[in-house]
Amino acid sequence: MSSTEDRLKDLRNRKSRSEAGGGQARVEAQHNRGKMTARERLEMLLDDGSFQEIDALVEHRCRDFNMDKNVIPGDGVVTGHGTINGRQVFAFAQDFTVYGGSLGEMHGLKICKVLDMALKTGRPVIGMNDSGGARIQEGVASLGSYAEIFFRNVRASGVVPQISVIMGPCAGGAVYSPAITDFVIMVDQTAHMFITGPEVIKTVTNEVVSFEDLGGASTHGSKSGVSHFTASDDEDAISMARDLCDLLPQNNLERPPIKKTSDSRDRLCDALDSIIPEDSSKPYDVVDVITEVLDDGGFMEVQSEWARNIVIGFGHLDGNTVGVVANQPKVLAGCLDIDASDKAARFVRFCDAFNIPILTFEDVPGFLPGTNQEWGGIIRHGAKLLYAFAEATVPKLTVILRKAYGGAYDVMSSKHIRGDYNVAWPSAELAVMGADGAVEIIHRRRIAHSRNPEQERERLTEDFKETFANPYKAAALGYLDDVIEPNQTRQRLCRALAMLMDKEELRPARKHGNIPL
Ligand code: HXC
Repeated sequence: MSSTEDRLKDLRNRKSRSEAGGGQARVEAQHNRGKMTARERLEMLLDDGSFQEIDALVEHRCRDFNMDKNVIPGDGVVTGHGTINGRQVFAFAQDFTVYGGSLGEMHGLKICKVLDMALKTGRPVIGMNDSGGARIQEGVASLGSYAEIFFRNVRASGVVPQISVIMGPCAGGAVYSPAITDFVIMVDQTAHMFITGPEVIKTVTNEVVSFEDLGGASTHGSKSGVSHFTASDDEDAISMARDLCDLLPQNNLERPPIKKTSDSRDRLCDALDSIIPEDSSKPYDVVDVITEVLDDGGFMEVQSEWARNIVIGFGHLDGNTVGVVANQPKVLAGCLDIDASDKAARFVRFCDAFNIPILTFEDVPGFLPGTNQEWGGIIRHGAKLLYAFAEATVPKLTVILRKAYGGAYDVMSSKHIRGDYNVAWPSAELAVMGADGAVEIIHRRRIAHSRNPEQERERLTEDFKETFANPYKAAALGYLDDVIEPNQTRQRLCRALAMLMDKEELRPARKHGNIPL
């Protein structure tokens, strides 16, 4: 029988084989590509010394293609738990040095175990992806494990925050795990996501496209909307994941943590009094409004390069995490279109799932006109945003800065779909449509028959503006709770949020609604 010393030596040997992964040469190759190893990434993600590995000794059980002679304990993914600024999280990192990080049966089941434990304990999960996809030698067993992961991602959706950091290849059906998670962070140049790669595309459609153009961070950050954040390197991506965790609750039964601030809740925002241009067709940057109002000017914008006509992101108001949705007059005049509706709708649903109050800044001339939009289904996409705002039961605060026209007025967290605190600046214009369009429709005959049509059109437009291009008709109907001086915006929102923090609102019991996807 072996001595205690032998047994310990054996254990240490096994652990160090697991830790060595695919060996020094492959680690060097990983470093030469500007990528960290799986263990380095986990060490950086989690507080110093807090990472506790599980399943380091798991091995694959594939016997085909001589795989039984090539067994590396840990099976190409490092999994475990640790803390981020003292709060528990689960994490996994695929190890590209072991079979290219490819996902076999046991590799997949290790990730499943982490997801199960995260769900059981109510902790966020951060997955770091760097993988050649389904492990070819393991065939359908690897597809099975993928589907087991997808199933768990769906079960955990809306229960614990799930963050995917893409730090290498992520191809084929493998992309669907990150796609289901709440946030995707991609590292510029080294991360690539696609369903079918450049070679398959060339064979099937004759299109020639590079990895980077097809599925790089900039493509998914600006064209497809698949990714939420673009990081310059691994370190940057990991720091984004940590920042995100700091803002969020651990699960759907908790509130987000309070962030200490010395920014007074009564601070006046004088700069806002003159932010709206005199000419209401002139643009301004709504991000300036957002940063002026939030604590210490802090704003973590999400999907900043995609659907830029709407701005979404996180910040704090009197220490509370809030989700901000704001029309951006600088881009497409702030019109709602297909992508903007999708972008904001998913964000609103995330905030609602995780008890994050929603702060809406509105300046929207309406839905974007055109056949592209109509044939692309703006009706059902716009309906998603309407649905998301209407079903959300977290505190909903809305400030109408300028335009609130047509259906877009209703959609953007209006009182009618249960906005809790709705105010407007004196520059607000609430109407079915802009004055020029409205006058053309309701006074067409009158203008045509007048002695001086141009002058008459001008007079009627001015008249329409005076009647409707203001917030007072809506305030008189109680559709607005108040009309406020712009400088008071922060103060009023902080007070409203404090009043609403314990809000409870129930929706009818049902299995789930049927959002127009
Ligand atoms: C097994 C794999 C592998 C895989 C890579 N490797 N991908 N092993 N299954 N899917 C191994 C390689 O054999 C090599 O082993 C090591 O990983 C590194 O790969 P290289 O090709 O040398 O690296 P690189 O040049 O950087 O290219 C990386 C790569 C390429 C772009 C990921 O390997 C590649 O195209 N792999 C196949 C990708 C793919 O088609 N996967 C299936 C997608 S479909 P050695 O021993 O030499 O170091 C899919 C379906 C999922 O995933 C469905 C879910 C529902």
